Amino acid sequence: MQELGVVVLAAGQGTRMKSNLPKVLHPLGGRPLFLHVLRTAQRLNPNAVAIVIGHGAEAVRSAYAGNDVAWILQEQQRGTGHAVLCAKEAFKGFKGEVIILSGDVPFIREQTLLMLVAHHRSRNAAVTLLTAFLDEPKGYGRILRDDHGNATGIVEEKDATPAQRGIREVNAGVYVVSASFAFAALSEVKNHNQQGEYYLPDIVAIGLAQRADIETVRVDDVREMLGVNTREELAFMEKDLRQSINKKWMLAGVTFKDPDTTYIEDGVTIGKDTVIGPNTQLRGKTVVGERCQIDGSAFLTDAQIGDEVHLRFSVVMTGCRVANGAIIGPFAHLRPGSNLGPNVHIGNFVETKEAKIGQGTKANHLTYLGDVTIGSEANIGAGTITCNYDGFHKYNTTIGDRVQVGSDTTLIAPVSLGDDVYVATASTVRHDVPAGALVYNQRDERVREGWTEQKRKKMKGSKK
Ligand code: UD1
Ligand code: CA
Repeated sequence: MQELGVVVLAAGQGTRMKSNLPKVLHPLGGRPLFLHVLRTAQRLNPNAVAIVIGHGAEAVRSAYAGNDVAWILQEQQRGTGHAVLCAKEAFKGFKGEVIILSGDVPFIREQTLLMLVAHHRSRNAAVTLLTAFLDEPKGYGRILRDDHGNATGIVEEKDATPAQRGIREVNAGVYVVSASFAFAALSEVKNHNQQGEYYLPDIVAIGLAQRADIETVRVDDVREMLGVNTREELAFMEKDLRQSINKKWMLAGVTFKDPDTTYIEDGVTIGKDTVIGPNTQLRGKTVVGERCQIDGSAFLTDAQIGDEVHLRFSVVMTGCRVANGAIIGPFAHLRPGSNLGPNVHIGNFVETKEAKIGQGTKANHLTYLGDVTIGSEANIGAGTITCNYDGFHKYNTTIGDRVQVGSDTTLIAPVSLGDDVYVATASTVRHDVPAGALVYNQRDERVREGWTEQKRKKMKGSKK
């Protein structure tokens, strides 16, 4: 078996992004640019992967959790050729091909890379490069060919003559090289060009001078090779990615009321016959079940939603679980650790956090439920607050099955209400309440007849 290696170039600053953030860390579909490339590369099960980092090296490194890649530091960004040469040691004694990818070309497909490798091996080539025909080739290296159509080299935009700039065939920046050839050729590359850089594409001319075989393969779908160099391009690709993800879910049986305003990250899954309203964002590892209804303006991150859940207009949910048949919102905020059982109802202006809520329990209005466990079929009245924080520590509240909490109740944690407890309205509960008990605060209600009129007269008299 011939070995297969991968080098991902990710050391450049990305000057044209005008950013303090290294370009390859700019997120596309919620994931840093270079991680798209890395993920595609890893699907090929390569024997070795090296990532060349430089600008913002530590930040780039910490954006990837795995430990199955070699990080190569390119201290000064002296060009793409120099960047690959920095990885030479990582491929010492390597017998086979290396795929070279750019960290800023995120849509390159696994199939294209496989096809490139197969072509390279079948021709026993030194370099096989991917090319594309662009209507607007500006910014890319142009492919030079002789009268027979054989590639003779690549000229960068900045070094090109006006005539060469008219060439529409460009270098996609994706290469398969034979390791032994490439690292030797790279040490011969000079930086005699407009940018004073060591250009990777110069190995083509070096190979041709040695009569080595240089192959080109044309990519069908140019979107695959588009690089992100500016924020405008990033936005364009974000839109493109969004459309393809939405299309995938529509084909899988999900209805979108307005695909243009629906943002779904690629780690999300959605069940059949779910209907999604406008301005919805499903992020991270969010899972939405079947036959759910999302009215709109939902912002869900790592949320797990069962089947037939109704998210009414405007909900924010993060790191939480919601079982089948629940109804949430409008205007509800489910924070991390919220775990709602089947058919739970959470209404407007209700916030939950670390809240385990049992089947059929309702909290429909203006309530804060934090660090709490609630049983099933309970009813939490309007304006109930679990007072879980004393400024130093957080405390838990426990509420049993079928408990009725009257409106305007404050539960001072740590506190526990047994099953079937009845909390009278406007109670402050400081002590545990046994099952089946009524709890209330003694408070007199007094009425003064005619008080309002007297008050108004007095106030008028005092007005100048
Ligand atoms: C490069 C190619 C160009 C091709 C285009 C396709 C060169 C000289 N030109 O141009 O022919 O059409 O890609 O997208 O290769 N990088 C490093 N270290 C460096 C310089 C760059 O790691 O010293 C990395 C960058 O982070 C980036 C990649 O290499 O991920 C490409 O560099 P970039 O400057 O974007 O090259 P282009 O001008 O786009
Ligand atoms: Ca680029």
